[in-house]
Amino acid sequence: MAQREPIGVVGTGYVGLVTAAGFAELGNEVWCIDIDADKVARLRQGEIPIWEPGLEELVAKHRGRLHFSTDIADALEHARLLFVAVGTPPTYSGDPDLGAVRAVVDAMPASDHHALVMKSTVPVGTGASIKRHFVEQGKGDFRYVSCPEFLKEGSAVKDFLHPDRVVIGDDGDWAGDAVVDLYAPLDAPLVRTDIASAEMVKLAANAFLATKISFINEIANVCEETGADVLEVARGMGLDDRIGPKFLQAGIGFGGSCFPKDVLGLKQLAGNSGYHFQLLNAVIEVNELQKRRVIGKLHKHLGTLVGKRIALLGLAFKPNTDDMREASSLVLSARLQSDGATVVAYDPVAEDEARKLMSGIEFADDALGAVRGADAVVLVTEWGEFKELDFREVAGAMAGDVLIDGRNALDPEAVRAAGLTYEGIGRS
Ligand code: UDX
Repeated sequence: MAQREPIGVVGTGYVGLVTAAGFAELGNEVWCIDIDADKVARLRQGEIPIWEPGLEELVAKHRGRLHFSTDIADALEHARLLFVAVGTPPTYSGDPDLGAVRAVVDAMPASDHHALVMKSTVPVGTGASIKRHFVEQGKGDFRYVSCPEFLKEGSAVKDFLHPDRVVIGDDGDWAGDAVVDLYAPLDAPLVRTDIASAEMVKLAANAFLATKISFINEIANVCEETGADVLEVARGMGLDDRIGPKFLQAGIGFGGSCFPKDVLGLKQLAGNSGYHFQLLNAVIEVNELQKRRVIGKLHKHLGTLVGKRIALLGLAFKPNTDDMREASSLVLSARLQSDGATVVAYDPVAEDEARKLMSGIEFADDALGAVRGADAVVLVTEWGEFKELDFREVAGAMAGDVLIDGRNALDPEAVRAAGLTYEGIGRS
């Protein structure tokens, strides 16, 4: 194998660690930098701080190529390219907080043989403003490349190794060429463009996917009023090549660390530039209402929720992750509690994360433990194990008989055959 370019990765969260392990798999030496000394110490021991399928194995496989440090100088000494994969959480204004990005930028020395490669999701114009800042600081030879990530939690390792496309925004210099070479073994379609357009691709892609979800959720709500079945409708729509079948699963709304933040971020970016992005307002509002619609369904079946015991199956924002950021379960459980219900929940992996964010709810050790004595059950996250449940056992354990399938993940006939009252989202 030809000598591969050593790289640095700043930030060892989902994006940074998956990127680092992915490049190690391609043969690169990787210097991973994080300000959290405890995390770095644990990573050196092979302990992975997040639950992501395949990541622990990949990091273990390439321990020899993955170097962990708190000192950015270690990465600068060994690598020309420094990937930035630090968090950009939303602020109260909806604009992302670029504090961690700025800290990395400020830590860079004057250099004519280094480049920052931005993986963190940032507003359009961030690259231009960082380049201006470099010039003002006398670091004008420091190069800059935008290389947005499209990793889905739960399949991030696979997404890194088999990307739909790689987007690289640069000034047509050595740094852009070097990033193109880095990704070459993946043989993915390449979009090489200017920095602002690369930044916009990321925001627009996520906003479009979120729009698709809010759209199908509204269709589901109309299906409920009119007697159509959203699964049939989505199947019929998805076979149109121009629409495609993905991201047409109606449910109780999108969550996670990206969609809510990026949709809001793009809306604010537009607003800050003087443009009113009407469509995104609707996407956000539909999503907020969608999380709450389950409450209406429970009222329909149970009347008042005061004193009722409601079991939530799944808490994570989607299956195969322990991520609870912006999970629909957070809104749902808070609404249930404020309506006077007792909430009991079970999630196969997200309980620890959930305990940090949720109070006043009971946690069960398994699905049957959660449904025992419940007046109603809500399937919140479509973990595979919930599809395998014996619904006769579920029915036998419950006090009531209502099952709301918030992800349309179950077979209504099997649930009804067990004597339960089934209600999905947008299913007649
Ligand atoms: C997303 C993007 O897909 C990825 O490209 C980006 O870089 C990071 O953000 P992720 O947040 O991991 O990835 O999750 P994703 O699988 O996209 O799902 C997001 C949310 O939408 C989840 O809450 C999921 O349950 C929901 N969803 C998804 C639906 O409700 N219906 C669908 O049809 C698809």
